[in-house]
Amino acid sequence: MTQLKNKHFVLGLTGGIACYKVAELCRALIKEGATVQVVMSEGATQFITPVTMQALSGRPVFISQWDSRESNNMAHINLSREAHAILIAPASAEFVAKLLHGRADDLLSLMCLARPIDQVPLIVAPAMNREMWSNPATQRNIEQLKADGAYVLDVGAGDQACGEIGDGRMLESHEIVEALKAHFTQKVLKGRRVLITAGPTYEAIDPVRGITNLSSGKMGFALARACKRAGAVVTLISGPVSLPTPDGVERLSVVSAQQMYDHTLSKMHSADVFIATAAVADWRVSAVVEQKIKKSAENSAPRFDLIENPDILKAVASSPRALSGELYCVGFAAESENLEKLATAKRIAKGVPLLVANLGPQTFGLDENALLLVNEHGTRQLPWASKEDLSAELVKEIASKLAN
Ligand code: CTP
Repeated sequence: MTQLKNKHFVLGLTGGIACYKVAELCRALIKEGATVQVVMSEGATQFITPVTMQALSGRPVFISQWDSRESNNMAHINLSREAHAILIAPASAEFVAKLLHGRADDLLSLMCLARPIDQVPLIVAPAMNREMWSNPATQRNIEQLKADGAYVLDVGAGDQACGEIGDGRMLESHEIVEALKAHFTQKVLKGRRVLITAGPTYEAIDPVRGITNLSSGKMGFALARACKRAGAVVTLISGPVSLPTPDGVERLSVVSAQQMYDHTLSKMHSADVFIATAAVADWRVSAVVEQKIKKSAENSAPRFDLIENPDILKAVASSPRALSGELYCVGFAAESENLEKLATAKRIAKGVPLLVANLGPQTFGLDENALLLVNEHGTRQLPWASKEDLSAELVKEIASKLAN
């Protein structure tokens, strides 16, 4: 609930089939703790009813500039003055053209023109047929709109309602929410390159069995998202998890600890920050059995020789760039007891300036966690909260250390 909590949006709908997605978007914004005032163009009301948008936003919808519900009859002024941003979704080709020319012949365009330009950002999510999108007139308008200070979101590619395939789809609501969160996040990691390991590793025993652990990868993925929102260029090296790749993050998928080690070492040279959230399997079998191990007639259980996997964090933290302070390393510790004592010892053993400790069994698979930050001066507790909020806090902590 960090970035969008208590933010107030004017959500402007213009005529286009993508209006159906905005019902979902409105709900998503409210779920994030924002408030939403819907304003619709006449065209938009052909695609979704004001009743639907009123029910979802919990506020009466405005359509006409002659609406007499506002006591001074100036909805175009009053509505925009309260907003943290005006979000036009979907923005039709016609509406983009109107914005560009400063035309103001309905409430929504009038309101965009009348907004205090330095205080209320205009965020535009275009949606149109691929030919309309690629038309030089639209592309020219979009460029000019950006030059005029609007924040124009990308369009998606794929199947279109008209049956054609190409660029021009409105982003999905979760992508728009992510873009808004990024917009409202301070860019404390701007220009920094962050490398993150996440999830479990899987060490094969035979073609169907292996050694792994209960890590879901959620903490590492949340951190990748938070670093990206804060302006970093993020590479995420993930073990086997079923999580979507955060928007704008480079993801390398690996299976074993050795693969994670190899990828990390090949990427660490360009990183400014390394965050090891992965629950790396400590051991693997010395020789993977080629075919599935069958139960023997005597029913005796097989025995395996285990060998230790390379310690990725230790290797990175002892590299010359880390030792010289060019690469800031953050370790994690998943413990099941004695958190402070074990984490304090682990920070020193790993040779990292910051270690983030948590009780693994209490958080595996959940969207919430509690963290204990351990550095050379002592500890700081981040109490039980969403992994998203904790990640935002951790990003601030890391950024403050980089600034020093
Ligand atoms: N780590 C790593 N490579 C390994 C093992 C751990 O990079 N082979 C990293 C983890 O990503 C984490 C930190 O080291 O950032 C601590 O991991 P943890 O599993 O808590 O500790 P271990 O070093 O494995 O020690 P132990 O299992 O004895 O607690």
